[in-house]
Amino acid sequence: MKFSTVFVFATTAAAVPWGNWKQWKKPSTDCLTDEMAAYIQERSRVFQLKADLAEARAAGEELFAADEYKQYGHSINSLRGDALGTLVEPDGRTYVENVLSAPPLARIDSLATLHNCTHIMEHWDFYGVGGPQNANIPVRGFSLTKVDLTREIQPVVWRQVEFNSMQWANNTGFTIEFPTSGPYAPAPPEK
Ligand SMILES: *[C@@H]1O[C@H](CO)[C@@H](O)[C@H](O)[C@H]1NC(C)=O
Ligand SMILES: *[C@@H]1O[C@H](CO)[C@@H](O)[C@H](O)[C@H]1NC(C)=O
Repeated sequence: MKFSTVFVFATTAAAVPWGNWKQWKKPSTDCLTDEMAAYIQERSRVFQLKADLAEARAAGEELFAADEYKQYGHSINSLRGDALGTLVEPDGRTYVENVLSAPPLARIDSLATLHNCTHIMEHWDFYGVGGPQNANIPVRGFSLTKVDLTREIQPVVWRQVEFNSMQWANNTGFTIEFPTSGPYAPAPPEK
């Protein structure tokens, strides 16, 4: 993937009224600023972490609850047994409800974030997928977020989310077995 205009995150968003994308007097621009990108990713973190359900709902509805919202991802397609390319979330309201009804996470670490005028890419570790017994096991992934700044509310129009689906599966109770032969079979014991 080519990000032809890449800005690195470098701002603290001190002047931003957290929790209200619509009321925030944003600079009139058709290009995402560092501050806007940081705001979207931080509110998204609050939403996905679900440390406080009411706060998570407010953040999710603020950003994602548009009818037009779509989510894609082969990792989830595979976990669900759906054909690759199947929509993961058909609309924003469904997405928000699905996230809020999943168990809370222990932690989300943002490893890196880049953006251009319309897209944000974040590399992250989710801890606690599947429940608190996995609080120290990271599931590492990326999300690519498309933002439409002409929208007054719910500026996120789609997301592509990919992650270590084998670890996610294991955390959520799938049985994972190594093959008995071939390059991924466990090495035979030393003689
Ligand atoms: C921003 O990045 C996305 C994803 O690579 C790309 O589709 C889009 O064309 C880029 N926008 C600009 C203005 O370069
Ligand atoms: C799956 O999880 C169990 C329990 O945490 C762990 O012992 C095992 O190594 C994991 N297997 C794989 C393939 O990650």
